[in-house]
Amino acid sequence: MKKLKFALAGLGRIGKIHLDNLLQMNNVRVVAAMDPFEESQVYAKDKGVANVTSTFEDMLASTDIDVVVICSPTDTHADYVEIAAKKGKHVFCEKPLDLSLERVVEVLDLVEDTGIKLMIGFNRRFDKEFKKVKALVSQGAIGEHHLVKITSRDPGAPPVSYIEKSGGLFLDMTIHDFDIARFIVDKEVEEVYAKGAVLVDSVIGDVGDIDTAVITLTYTDGTMAIIDNSREAAYGYDQRVEVFGSKGMVKAENNLHDSHQLFTSQGSQRSLPLYFFLERYAEAYKTEMSDYIQSLENGTPVPANGNDGLQSLKIGLASIMSLQENRPVKLEEINQFQSIKMLK
Ligand SMILES: NC(=O)c1ccc[n+]([C@@H]2O[C@H](COP(=O)([O-])OP(=O)(O)OC[C@H]3O[C@@H](n4cnc5c(N)ncnc54)[C@H](O)[C@@H]3O)[C@@H](O)[C@H]2O)c1
Repeated sequence: MKKLKFALAGLGRIGKIHLDNLLQMNNVRVVAAMDPFEESQVYAKDKGVANVTSTFEDMLASTDIDVVVICSPTDTHADYVEIAAKKGKHVFCEKPLDLSLERVVEVLDLVEDTGIKLMIGFNRRFDKEFKKVKALVSQGAIGEHHLVKITSRDPGAPPVSYIEKSGGLFLDMTIHDFDIARFIVDKEVEEVYAKGAVLVDSVIGDVGDIDTAVITLTYTDGTMAIIDNSREAAYGYDQRVEVFGSKGMVKAENNLHDSHQLFTSQGSQRSLPLYFFLERYAEAYKTEMSDYIQSLENGTPVPANGNDGLQSLKIGLASIMSLQENRPVKLEEINQFQSIKMLK
């Protein structure tokens, strides 16, 4: 089979992961990359990428490309997807597609018209712990679902320069939890009630964001979910999920550095959770990309599509509105022409 030719835009934290993973795969070739910063360009050149440019347009013009992986800052995603789709390239785009619902709808319409395959980088769907929970839930192991509990706490906040362009906690970080909340029980959310605070770092509050949140979701069938977030957990990356139902409960705990447990007369002790997303989801990023490639090769649906991105964005925008207006918000209240913003 012909090897798909990949190009990557943006080689920061997540771009380097995708580049390194793609370079390990035998069934694809990485033919181009772009990043405006020289250090990132050198990184790609050192890895043997033949065409490295500083602009997206130059990258697309530099060689023959089948698939573009977009890992640049969030405010570039929609434009890059649009440019690539118009040229008939398939696109893997990191989350979120954009912060404006109107813009996302516009881009998804174009994607549909061009027939390219767009995948959104919801990597947690490919984590083996979460996959196991989903499989058991869908096999009926816990009967009817009543409650979903998601804990998602980062070990430390990103720089404010990143936060300012990110859309804020709900659209940058909780968006993964909104996706998992839909994915794990395969249900749509009807209503959101969000509370948030600045408890970690006042600088985050200064740009209009929050660093700590509790969000309650109600699905269309009455099932409820609760998500708690913090930008700073002193003990590492805290990623747990639980689904409770009429016949039982299934949960996935954190992945620890190792599985030892020390017991002494003082008590017991275990290792800390893996430090952050690079470590915890290292395997999930590989599976995510190889599943996407399989869907391209086999002509099957992508495992996280544009609508998944759209639905999670809607839940995020409803969360912002709920926080700002201090009330539960129905998803149907969020229409595409509203401008809902977290940051100043
Ligand atoms: N799925 C995940 O687990 C995950 C994790 C982290 C980030 N992300 C998403 O990936 C995106 C990038 O995040 P990051 O943490 O890697 O950020 P980052 O700041 O580490 O890297 C961004 C990179 O993009 C480059 N860049 C800046 N302007 C650009 C432009 N106009 N065109 C192309 N590249 C440009 C920067 O030089 C940098 O190398 C964000 O949208 C973020 O939401 C997803």
